[in-house]
Amino acid sequence: MKVEVVSKKYETANVDALVFPVSKEEKNLRENIKKIDDVLEGGISKLKKTLKFEAEEGKFLIAPTYGKIKADFVILVGLGETKKIDKDTFRRVAAYTVREAKKQKFSKILIDINLNFEKLSPEDVAASITEGSILGNYSFDKYFTKKKDSSEVEKVEININVKDKTAVKEAVRVATVLAEAQNFTRDLVNEPANVINTVQFAKIAEDLAKQYGFEIKVYDEKEIEEMGMGAYLAVAKGSENPPRFIHLTYRPKHSKGEYAVVGKGLMFDSGGLNIKTGDFMRWMKTDKSGACAVLGIFKAIGELKPDITVHGIVAAAENMPSGKAYRPDDILRAKNGKTIEVGNTDAEGRLTLADALSYASELKPDAIIDMATLTGACVIALGEFTAGVMGNNQKLINEVLSVSQDTGEWMWQLPFNDKLREQIKAPHADVYNVGTTRYGGAITAGLFLEHFVDPKIPWVHIDIAGPSHHTSGWYYHPKGATGIPVRTITTLLLKKVNYIK
Ligand code: BES
Ligand code: ZN
Ligand code: ZN
Repeated sequence: MKVEVVSKKYETANVDALVFPVSKEEKNLRENIKKIDDVLEGGISKLKKTLKFEAEEGKFLIAPTYGKIKADFVILVGLGETKKIDKDTFRRVAAYTVREAKKQKFSKILIDINLNFEKLSPEDVAASITEGSILGNYSFDKYFTKKKDSSEVEKVEININVKDKTAVKEAVRVATVLAEAQNFTRDLVNEPANVINTVQFAKIAEDLAKQYGFEIKVYDEKEIEEMGMGAYLAVAKGSENPPRFIHLTYRPKHSKGEYAVVGKGLMFDSGGLNIKTGDFMRWMKTDKSGACAVLGIFKAIGELKPDITVHGIVAAAENMPSGKAYRPDDILRAKNGKTIEVGNTDAEGRLTLADALSYASELKPDAIIDMATLTGACVIALGEFTAGVMGNNQKLINEVLSVSQDTGEWMWQLPFNDKLREQIKAPHADVYNVGTTRYGGAITAGLFLEHFVDPKIPWVHIDIAGPSHHTSGWYYHPKGATGIPVRTITTLLLKKVNYIK
């Protein structure tokens, strides 16, 4: 899909439909819509009355133009109450509009943003509509042999009547990159484990590196052993698919900072010998969501080229039961020398991350951010739509939370404390990979990771077990992978070096 900023006369716009977002408070048609209504001899206002259209969020009024203007339809779409309208309202409404347009087989639409909102600039509105349109247009349907009976929306024109469109165009450019990067992540997460295995994932990372000129080093099982990554290696042992440790680096000419993003990369999580039962094993292809987010972030960074060095780190593995699999009670030694007693082989993500975070710490970046589908406990605590945020540095946590409010990727901080730290003390090793109780399971997982981060480096852990995917979808997310938190982390990196405000 292409999103373009234009200033057009409505009568001659070469699109299938003209779309006007309207708020509940707009009782009468605003001036620009009124003009078209006059040309249509009341075609909009009459329908509005008949259908009792009240501009509830996402509700449509679709008025045919019968050839009186160039577009076939004029659409009013509800934004709801003015005081509740924010960036995410526009993302949602744009997504609903694109889906409706798909159903109606419109290939080109124009969305008018000549409206006035105190809180939001035209740039904010245009960027949000761009993101919502591109994210809402997404579907993962490549495996259906019979194509769905709906067509793609090819083009969205964002209509704005300002003299200088430069700022709006720039906002749309960045928003397009962010949303497309998120869709790229969704595509990867949605692929099942028989298509994307560890070796295949490494290959995708290499292709991305080639495309954008990133440095890349992929370590194979022998090199992983040589690096002393005993925790990660143990998790990978049960699978026929060998582990691959991936280190991507984006290095700009003039670097103003250095961040590491680490993603949990379980191509599939069966639970291992502590095998998952029944429905709990479904969707475990999405246990690579953090790793796929790393690649999405790199895609965006590769397109935008900000002045910040970024390391992308993934310890790719598959958690399977077999005669070679690691067991409960096994004692492992991580790269940083700490010993780990295994309480449960289904708490595997934190073991792979232990070595990935030790590796990241050795790079001595300004900060480390990890993203992981780490615990069911986090989903119980916060619900399916909110990620859990933890870490060793409140300033960095606040930055992540603040950006997430803007991107609409809901996040909430979970508290570390010493009482829970006691609960991951192991009987015969430095640390246990499970808590002694199941309470606060998302936090004890975060506290486990804490053992493997250099305490001098600001670090944030984002548990995305809930919002990484959804069985039916919500807002601008279709069913399956969501691509969360690609926009939040990329935006944070861009803000760090004032690429955006
Ligand atoms: N990959 C799962 C966490 C998960 C659960 C992700 C639901 C997405 C949806 C993780 O490896 C896991 O199995 N965690 C266990 C930890 C437990 C054994 C301490 C869990 O949450 O049950
Ligand atoms: Zn698991
Ligand atoms: Zn897992």
